[in-house]
Amino acid sequence: MKNYKIAVLPGDGTGPEVINEGLKVLAAVSSKFSFKYETVNYDLGGERYLKTGEILPESVLEELRGFKSIYLGAIGDPRVKPGILEKGLLLRLRFELDQYINLRPVVLYDKKYCPLKDKSEKDIDFTVVRENTEGLYCGAGGFSRKGTEDEVAIQESINSYKGVERCVRYAFEYACKRNKNKCVTLCGKTNVLTYAFDLWERTFYKVAKDYSDIKADYAHVDATCMWMVKNPEWFDVIVTDNMFGDIITDLGAMIQGGMGIAAGGNINPAGTSMFEPIGGSAPKYTGKSVINPLAAICALSMMLDYMGEAKAAAAVEDSVKKVVKEKMQSLSAGKMGYSTQEVGDLVVENL
Ligand code: IPM
Ligand code: MN
Repeated sequence: MKNYKIAVLPGDGTGPEVINEGLKVLAAVSSKFSFKYETVNYDLGGERYLKTGEILPESVLEELRGFKSIYLGAIGDPRVKPGILEKGLLLRLRFELDQYINLRPVVLYDKKYCPLKDKSEKDIDFTVVRENTEGLYCGAGGFSRKGTEDEVAIQESINSYKGVERCVRYAFEYACKRNKNKCVTLCGKTNVLTYAFDLWERTFYKVAKDYSDIKADYAHVDATCMWMVKNPEWFDVIVTDNMFGDIITDLGAMIQGGMGIAAGGNINPAGTSMFEPIGGSAPKYTGKSVINPLAAICALSMMLDYMGEAKAAAAVEDSVKKVVKEKMQSLSAGKMGYSTQEVGDLVVENL
């Protein structure tokens, strides 16, 4: 019997509540599909930082490298200045573990949760492959004459050929594996960002040559936002840089029913990957048992797929789909018609 080791980082705010539900589903699905797992819990996050000043100790980082999968709740604490935990923990993990893909499926499970008029399940089913280790997120730049009227702030986007190539290639491979519309769209801004997206565009069409049965398409980021609302059915796989990927996946989350259902994977295909609901720590809902755990449960499904338990992953996704279609009154916190724990139970019952 397979035995997987999983690092669990419940994190801040509602993170622990949603991770608990995910772990409940994991326990149920593991006995159903006959695999074993061990979890190791890490108390990284705002609480630990406020108590000890530690964000991500070197020794913990080294331990995490020993896992294939990390299951993450949320990072962000209103008591800590914005950026400290996000950069020191979430982004540092993505960078240090070289999780160069941020995979964000945008799937509508039931049309009643879609804010777009006349769009249904068949129209919203695509995946964003967001580059996750470069771009504007590198922290390159600085201030000059800070705090004076002569102040200048520079923030530069780093795009390496290797970084772009591996991301674009992943997107094409993913489109093959998905086997749906067989189309990869590069989302960029070649009309203005004529260095960064020149590299992206050249690399994109070069890699595309290796995938003759996949269509290679291009859309500017502003137009991508427009099409995501007007004709989301045009998309199959979208590949883009870190910043654009961050922005368009929040839009993606909204058209699939909101942050309560949106999940993502930070993937290093040859190393340690990390799966998370993308909604953040939602501090105002903490401890109230009102947060929607389905995004965390969808992240679990993605993790199972990555671990090689494709059937278990599909079973979890099917159960979520059923609960969303047949039970939930809303996907938003406090309006679900059930508590956080009850939603977790429903997913277990429908497995
Ligand atoms: C996300 C988040 C993070 C990001 C923040 C919290 C640093 O918005 O995962 O999309 O910008 O990547
Ligand atoms: Mn984001």
